This record gives sequence, structure tokens and C-alpha cells, in this order.
Amino acid sequence: MSITRLDSGSSTATDGVPLVYTPAVAAATADVYERVRAVVPEVEWPVHAPYIDAIERWKRSRGAVVLAHNYQTPEIFHGVADLSGDSLALAQQAAETDAEVIVMCGVHFMAETAKMLSPEKTVLIPDLEAGCSLAASISGADVRRLRERHPGVPVVTYVNTSVEVKAESDICCTSSNAVEVVESLGVDRVIFLPDEFLGRYVADNTDVEVILWQGHCEVHERFTGDELRDYRKTYPGIQIFAHPECPPDVLSEADYVGSTAGLIRHVDATRPERVVLVTECSMSDNVAVAHPDVEFIRPCNLCPHMKQITLPKILTALERLQHEVTIDPDVAGRGRRAVERMLEVGRGAGG
Ligand code: 13P
Ligand code: SF4
Repeated sequence: MSITRLDSGSSTATDGVPLVYTPAVAAATADVYERVRAVVPEVEWPVHAPYIDAIERWKRSRGAVVLAHNYQTPEIFHGVADLSGDSLALAQQAAETDAEVIVMCGVHFMAETAKMLSPEKTVLIPDLEAGCSLAASISGADVRRLRERHPGVPVVTYVNTSVEVKAESDICCTSSNAVEVVESLGVDRVIFLPDEFLGRYVADNTDVEVILWQGHCEVHERFTGDELRDYRKTYPGIQIFAHPECPPDVLSEADYVGSTAGLIRHVDATRPERVVLVTECSMSDNVAVAHPDVEFIRPCNLCPHMKQITLPKILTALERLQHEVTIDPDVAGRGRRAVERMLEVGRGAGG
């Protein structure tokens, strides 16, 4: 398979050779542009379109599927993703797809989860630097120490963790099924790792006692209750929908709390005139595409890890089959058990 790279053009691939925005590329990507016109300036399209066109052809030749988290930029989310969603949906889709190659446009723990659930498939992440502050906040050794301190108390672990941490856990959860997972255990106390704010949210919504860890999402911890009260004053009638990784004073100011997929479903269901999605910046762009009638107020807190993923890196990932995610089989097996227990509980769960 070859992609035409010429000496002149408006886009530059990672190997420094430009891709060209030709009339054929414009025609092949016209439908995609119509979809994202409201959120991608026309002047940017000649940069993105040659990559979208090339990625589509490489996907076919590799038998690959591109999975994208809701925080990916619109040219990825609407341009090249075959499947998209929140962490739970990505895990379910990775477990179910028939594709030989999965390109995970998200962060490293999402690619690891896909590999755990589909060990026979080639799972690629376009940039190994796409990490997560929550995943970085805790190690497998930390979990073992907590178990010693709280003998017999089950460990519920948010999927935003490394496979080593999952392997030390009884069960995983995502932001869309955390309360349901905790209650499924039928116990009085759980250790909930590593997101303190999601853990507090769970504690507020169940009678189960929750032992917390002090991990935080560097994107969501920046929002404040004062900021949201200012939005209410400045934008009369605004609806505030927030992600449960936000601090408690933010969640108590919100009209609705849910996972990224939950936030999208709530916009779809309630069609507010004016809304702020208190979460990562690209979400509003992606949701606005389907809701031209909704006014989105957009504080822009970007996730620097999610933003490591770009169209040129996705193309390179497909061309070179890089960066392949591999996991020690023993650790993968133990981590998989915790994720599969979650999928059994959370099947069909909403956020
Ligand atoms: P969800 O998409 O599962 O809500 O997760 C949000 C997030 O921060 C992922 O990194
Ligand atoms: Fe991690 Fe927060 Fe970025 Fe999600 S948004 S990947 S939780 S740092």
C-alpha cells in the first residue's frame, strides 16, 4: 500500500514528507467536513483532510479499527474514528470487535485495557506519552500496602490505572458504573482507587463506606464551584452538567453528573438551550456537531495526554504498526479478571 506524498502541499507527516490536499482528497472528505463545519475552521481543512483520506485507506489495508475517546479533537472523533465513547464503551467495543488491529485514540490505560480484553489482537497507541495523572498517582505496591492496612476489604479500582494496579484489584469500574459496581459487592466497606473525587461522589450515592486514595484528574480538579456560580450569573438559564472526577463543590453546583457518555446522553435527552459541560475541552466541540441549536459555553481545560494523539501520529501508527502495547501475560490475566468482573456488572449501565 502506498500513499502519495509530493514535494509541496499543506500538511506534513511525521517523517517530514508532506501530504497534499488534492481535488480528489477534497471530494473524498467532503462529507466529513460537512459534519464538522461548525467546529473546524475551513482554513484548517486542507491540513486535516489528506490525513483523514490516507488513514481511511490504511485502516482498510491493515484490517484496523480506530477507537476514539470522547475527548479526542473533532477531526479525529468525527474524521477517522470507527467507534467512540466513554471508557466503559471503549472497553466493551475493544472486547467485541473482529478487527485484527485496534488503534486506540485515547490514553495509555485505555490501550492496555483493550489489549487485556483482546490479547490476540494488535493494539496500537499513536503516542506512548499519552498518560494520565490518575494512573500515575498509584502503583501495584501501593495497592498491596492498602490491603495490608485494611485486611479483607475489597479493592474497587477506576479503569484510569495501570494494568499492574488492576491486577492487584478485585474489580474495576468506570465513571458510568462506579456506584453500581461498589454496590454489587454486597459489602459494608470498599477501598476505592485512585480518584478521590469520584470516590467521594460514590460515597455520597451509596451506604457503603468508601476508603479513599488521593489521586486527582489534572483536568477536572481545576474546576471550582465559584467558577460555576459565575456562569450562572453571566449566562442566565444555563444548565451545568459535570463529570464526577470534579471536586465536590463543583458537583454540588451541577444540575447533572455523569460520565462523558452520560453527559452526551443528557444533552441528547434534555436539549438545553444553553449548557456548560464541565469536563475536557473537546467534548463540547464533539457534541456541538449534533446540536446546532444548543449554545455551549466552553471553558477550555485540555487534557495534555489526550492531546498527544494527532492525525499524523495515527497515520504513522497504521503505516508502521507502532506503538504496540504488550503486557506480561500473568499481570494481564489478573488485570483482565478485574475488568471482566466490571463488564459483567456494568453491562448496559448508563452514567
Ligand atoms: P469517561 O469517558 O469514562 O467518563 O472518563 C473520563 C476520563 O477522564 C477519561 O480519561
Ligand atoms: Fe487522565 Fe484526566 Fe486526562 Fe482523563 S482527562 S486521561 S482522567 S488526566
